[in-house]
Amino acid sequence: MSALYEPLRLRSLTILNRVWMAPMCQYSAEVTGPDAGVPGDWHFAHYGARAAGGTGLILVEATAVSPQGRISPADLGIWNDRQSAAFRRITSFLKEQGTVPGIQIAHAGRKASTDAPWRGGAPVGSEAHGWQSVAPSPLPFDERHPVPDELTVEGIRQVVQEFAAAARRAREAGFEVIEVHGAHGYLIGEFLSPYTNHRTDAYGGSYENRTRFALEVVDAVRAVWPEELPVFFRISATDWLTENPDDEREGWTADDTVRFAADLKAHGVDLLDVSTGGNAPKARILTGPGYQVPFAERVRSETGLPVGAVGEITEARQAEKIIDNQQVDAVLIGRELLRNPYFARHAARELGCEVAEPVQYGYAT
Ligand SMILES: Cc1cc2nc3c(=O)[nH]c(=O)nc-3n(C[C@H](O)[C@H](O)[C@H](O)COP(=O)(O)O)c2cc1C
Repeated sequence: MSALYEPLRLRSLTILNRVWMAPMCQYSAEVTGPDAGVPGDWHFAHYGARAAGGTGLILVEATAVSPQGRISPADLGIWNDRQSAAFRRITSFLKEQGTVPGIQIAHAGRKASTDAPWRGGAPVGSEAHGWQSVAPSPLPFDERHPVPDELTVEGIRQVVQEFAAAARRAREAGFEVIEVHGAHGYLIGEFLSPYTNHRTDAYGGSYENRTRFALEVVDAVRAVWPEELPVFFRISATDWLTENPDDEREGWTADDTVRFAADLKAHGVDLLDVSTGGNAPKARILTGPGYQVPFAERVRSETGLPVGAVGEITEARQAEKIIDNQQVDAVLIGRELLRNPYFARHAARELGCEVAEPVQYGYAT
């Protein structure tokens, strides 16, 4: 048996294997009307296929905690009961397939109100159902983006409550893992980094102040999420600024991530999902197969917090080696699972592991 296919226990939840689906926005919900942000046929078929494909845990895409927190007008949302009720069909099907249903809850901050990437991803105005974005500081993401409104302390408290309400609804919808999206330069990541957070109040300046909002969100989520179920946090381990000698901009660093991981652990986070980048345009990112694994491995070895690795993990033996070497606890597969919904089963076969096939497909084994 390969270590990749050994179950992982977090709190009282058992996840059948270590091949997980990374959260990936589909930008495919209704934009207006009562079904705005509600998961539909596309989402059911898309996530259902990856569950039938043997994926141990599926993290449903960044799902907005408020209309203002969407990346695009067609994002999924979990700010009302109609949305959470519609997720139940997905969570129950995933469970029937032996897949743990998880969801990433998110607020897009200054990167909100953009078009779908296949239409160019540019910021959209009110004529295309766009809205005014918010951020820790009134700094636009790049020359295309409008200046976001600086969140007031009152506004910050409201967003914390929106995360808590989203977590409560996610549980009602049957999710067993909740992931707080603190990565890729969206609202929480914007607060963490000195590159995007220029505040001078209790939410900006020192490390303690910049991490305050993220920890308040984690505390609010943890308070409504069942004690026996895990909370994940996705982080960008680095903005790829400070570590680059050719870039004078100051950002969030891998050292900050290790320090913060220990704080997250103390606040009841059970696994850090380690990505990088997304906060600063034109940052030089050194990519390649498994390029973010070392960031995750460092967190695991220095804090003892379980970690997931993501980014250019596309092959069975590559994934197995990362787990076998005890670098990380699970691998999250993104684009390879878009190409091949059966990646987890195909990889198991390649590694000589026995995994259950859906009975309906028994004719094809
Ligand atoms: C279409 C698409 C949508 C994505 N949406 C999200 C998202 O909702 N939340 C998130 O944290 N990352 C998102 N990502 C990043 C992925 O989760 C993953 O970290 C990235 O694709 C690298 O992994 P890969 O090389 O296996 O694709 C997205 C990536 C893609 C390709």
